Amino acid sequence: MKKIHRLSSVVLAAFILPHLLNHLTAFWSGPDAHIAFMDGFRKIYRQPVVEGILLLSVVVQIGTGLRLAFTRTGRKLSFWERVQRGSGIYLALFMLIHVSAVLTGRSSGTDTNFHFAAWGVNNDPSLLFFIPYYFLGVWTFFLHIGAIRYRKVLEINRVSSPWQGYGIWAAGWGISALILAGLRV
Ligand code: HEM
Repeated sequence: MKKIHRLSSVVLAAFILPHLLNHLTAFWSGPDAHIAFMDGFRKIYRQPVVEGILLLSVVVQIGTGLRLAFTRTGRKLSFWERVQRGSGIYLALFMLIHVSAVLTGRSSGTDTNFHFAAWGVNNDPSLLFFIPYYFLGVWTFFLHIGAIRYRKVLEINRVSSPWQGYGIWAAGWGISALILAGLRV
C-alpha cells in the first residue's frame, strides 16, 4: 500500500509543483501571465494519456492515503506522524472536491483558467470558504512533505532535525499566502 502511495505521489508531484508555480505567476506578473503559463502547461497535461495517468494517480493517492491514515498502529503516534496523517486527510478531501469542481466546470464548457479559480476568493460571501480552503490546500501539501522529510531523516540518520520540517512548513505558509494574494484581483 505504501509503495503504491509513493509511486502515485511522484506522478502527482510532477504536476503539482509546476501547478503551484503557475499560481505564483499571478502574484509576480498578474492574471495574463498566469493564463499564458497555464496555456503552455496544458499542452502537456491535457494530452489524453498524460491526463489519464494524472487523474488515475489522484484517485490512487486519495484511496491509498485515506486507507493509510486510518490504519491503526497500536501505539501512540508522534507529533510528526499526526501532522502527516492530518494533512494527508485534508489533502485527500481537498483533491476530491477540487478535481471534481474542475472537471464539472470543464464538462459544462467553462474555461477553468485563472478567472475560474479567482472567482471564489473575490466574491462575498464565497471568499469566507475559498480563502481558507485554497490556503489549506496548498499549505497542507507542504505540511505533509515537511513531516515526511522529518521522519525520513530520523529513520535514515537516526538524528532528530526538526528544523528541516519546520523550514518546509514555513516556506509552504509563505507560498500559500503569495498564491492567495495573487488570486485577489
Ligand atoms: C490556490 C491553490 C490552487 C488553485 C487556485 C488551483 C486551481 C486549479 C485550476 C484553475 C485548475 C484547472 C486547470 C486547467 O483548466 O487546466 C486546477 C486543476 C488541478 N489542480 Fe489545482 N489549484 C490549486 C491547488 C492545488 C493543489 C494543492 C493540488 C494538489 C494537491 C491541485 C491539484 C489539481 C489537479 C490534480 C488538477 C486537475 C488537472 C487536470 O486534469 O485538469 N491543485 N487547479
